Amino acid sequence: MIINVDGKITDETKACIPVVSEAFLYGFAVFETVRTYNKKIFRLDDHLARLFVSADVIGLKSKWTFKKIYQIIVDTLAESKYKNAKIRIILSKKHLVVTVESLKEKPESFYKKGVKAISYQGRRNSPRAKTLADSFLYLAHQHAKSCGVYEAILVDPRKFYVREGSYSNIFWVNGRHLYATNKNILFGITRDTVIELAQLDSPCDFEGIKIKSLMSADEVFITQTTSGILPVVQIDGHKIGTGKPGPVTKKMMKAFDKLVWGK
Ligand code: PDD
Repeated sequence: MIINVDGKITDETKACIPVVSEAFLYGFAVFETVRTYNKKIFRLDDHLARLFVSADVIGLKSKWTFKKIYQIIVDTLAESKYKNAKIRIILSKKHLVVTVESLKEKPESFYKKGVKAISYQGRRNSPRAKTLADSFLYLAHQHAKSCGVYEAILVDPRKFYVREGSYSNIFWVNGRHLYATNKNILFGITRDTVIELAQLDSPCDFEGIKIKSLMSADEVFITQTTSGILPVVQIDGHKIGTGKPGPVTKKMMKAFDKLVWGK
């Protein structure tokens, strides 16, 4: 892993920020996960814009500017030879950490056969912000892992509306029409990309959906930076549609692959 702390490439064993930093004491910091496809960074401007939205949401004023962060990311990435890299950016008041590592693609079977998910009740404090102090997401994801499924679908505990995944956004299809949630969620960069691609054909509608209705949708898929679009074929043990990736999901996956890989 290549690590850059405050603009300097640092050895992994020596990379550190002060223990008195609010990022360490309170998790008062925001972050982004970005990736490259064949050495090209995917939508870095959008990721950095969202980093600053996250900072605004929690009232974090950092000394690091958009331009400076952008340059540090490009410089840090240039130190690596990875074709497909995962880049993590952590921004606090005083500190900036950028890490670059090789991105391990998900197994082919995840895309061909789909993944399973489990519902998880609870609310994030600041849904529009990606902050370090969001252990709820971590716990939700750990729960999914301990149940042997790929993702936890976050569900409002009062009215059972679906929000997003612990690390992903949710789409569903009914009668070949595409829908997405858009309240109390993080506006994913992959989600934005899918919505833009859908515009070219039949646009996506934004609606609320309860977990029970999601389970009876024709198709469900999730989107996230590191893995793009993943079909969801089971939620809480209930089969979604035919139990296989559906035609609209496959169409969106194809369009997405064409955009990011050029094939
Ligand atoms: N997570 N919703 C939440 C709560 C997320 O944490 C993420 C991404 C998304 C999807 O956003 P995007 O398409 O921009 O990756 C939605 C990243 C991958 C992470 O936590 O590292």
